[in-house]
Amino acid sequence: MAKKDAAAAGPWTDEEEIECVSVLPESPDVVTVCFQAPSGRPFAFEAGQFITLELPVPGGPLYRTYTISSPPSRPLSLTITIKAQPGSIGTRWIIDNMRPGMMLKATGPAGRFTSAAHPAKKHLFISAGSGITPMMSMTGEIYDRGRNCDIVFVNCARRPSEIIFKRRLEHMATRIEGLELKWVVEEHDPFQPWTGFQGRFNQLMLGLMAPDYLEREVFCCGPEPFMQAVREALAGLGFDMEHYHQESFQAPQSTVAGLIEAPTPEDERPEEDQMAEITFDISGVTQSVPQTETVLAAARAAGLNIPSGCTFGVCGTCKVMKTEGHVHMVHNGGITEEEIEEGYILACCSHPMGKVTVEI
Ligand SMILES: Cc1cc2nc3c(=O)[nH]c(=O)nc-3n(C[C@H](O)[C@H](O)[C@H](O)COP(=O)(O)OP(=O)(O)OC[C@H]3O[C@@H](n4cnc5c(N)ncnc54)[C@H](O)[C@@H]3O)c2cc1C
Ligand code: FES
Repeated sequence: MAKKDAAAAGPWTDEEEIECVSVLPESPDVVTVCFQAPSGRPFAFEAGQFITLELPVPGGPLYRTYTISSPPSRPLSLTITIKAQPGSIGTRWIIDNMRPGMMLKATGPAGRFTSAAHPAKKHLFISAGSGITPMMSMTGEIYDRGRNCDIVFVNCARRPSEIIFKRRLEHMATRIEGLELKWVVEEHDPFQPWTGFQGRFNQLMLGLMAPDYLEREVFCCGPEPFMQAVREALAGLGFDMEHYHQESFQAPQSTVAGLIEAPTPEDERPEEDQMAEITFDISGVTQSVPQTETVLAAARAAGLNIPSGCTFGVCGTCKVMKTEGHVHMVHNGGITEEEIEEGYILACCSHPMGKVTVEI
């Protein structure tokens, strides 16, 4: 498709592979990868949403979900900003192998952790480590609109050299009114004076950074212990948690993260000692499993492959069609009500209850 016709053809869809156009270092073990649609089609997404990449790692594709760090107001490309944790497979593969010109399959954009879903005049964006990515997209969009804003932007990092996007955010703060940046580090870098906050985020810091926090819409993203500290600080200060939103990059350890469970009678909850029968009809496999086993785990045990990413019901990669029976599904937003009505389930967080058939 000629690039000039691309915009008229509508936004990018995941039928088209995306092309890596640059890989930029941000801080130790953190890179930003920029992608474009070869057709030139623009990307349509909401600030805070994510995409899931199919990574051709040795031994088979691996699916990894990453928040789009660029703002939707710059639709000709999208960026992800990724941090490799110790022992990382997928993210490390991207950092070591991704180069301009490479093509990847991607699905999405998806996700409900968006400022558009919770409009507000005053924001408190609070993040740690790579959890800064959704806040960066949201702030970038507000910045691109060129209007003054009211954002207190808090980011916590181990040390100043590990703060992602620091210079870019500081530049933005010199160009619009109302973007207040607050950095918190655990320790400073050798021979680099540090005048910002130091220590672990706590209630006292919150009051100093945003005295009017009670009036703000709070978006939080980072490791679970960090988000728990933020939740406890806010709840302890009488904050109305209806105005608190968070995104987990890893399986949440508590239900506060917004897990969605259809109302289920007590006697329909999965039990370890109750067996269910699951049939993978395309593969012709039927097996008996405890109700507490997920459809994904049952498929793996039968040697079948259901592509999966997050494994906690957020990315939607493991969506499969259920043609018969009933499952107990507790998801994290990776499936819509319409899809559920059509018969789809998320295999990673669905437990078979009785006899169930899925199209695998
Ligand atoms: C909605 C969503 C958005 C996300 N957005 C981003 C993003 O913008 N940038 C980004 O870098 N990642 C993001 N992630 C996380 C990303 O998808 C991967 O889960 C993460 O990078 C780990 O994958 P991996 O291949 O690096 O490590 P894996 O090979 O999956 O794991 C290797 C080891 O690292 C540990 N590990 C995995 N993640 C972490 C962690 N966060 N902290 C400490 N140890 C860990 C695992 O327990 C395991 O032992 C997001 C995840 C979700 C669900
Ligand atoms: S693997 Fe992400 S929703 Fe199931």
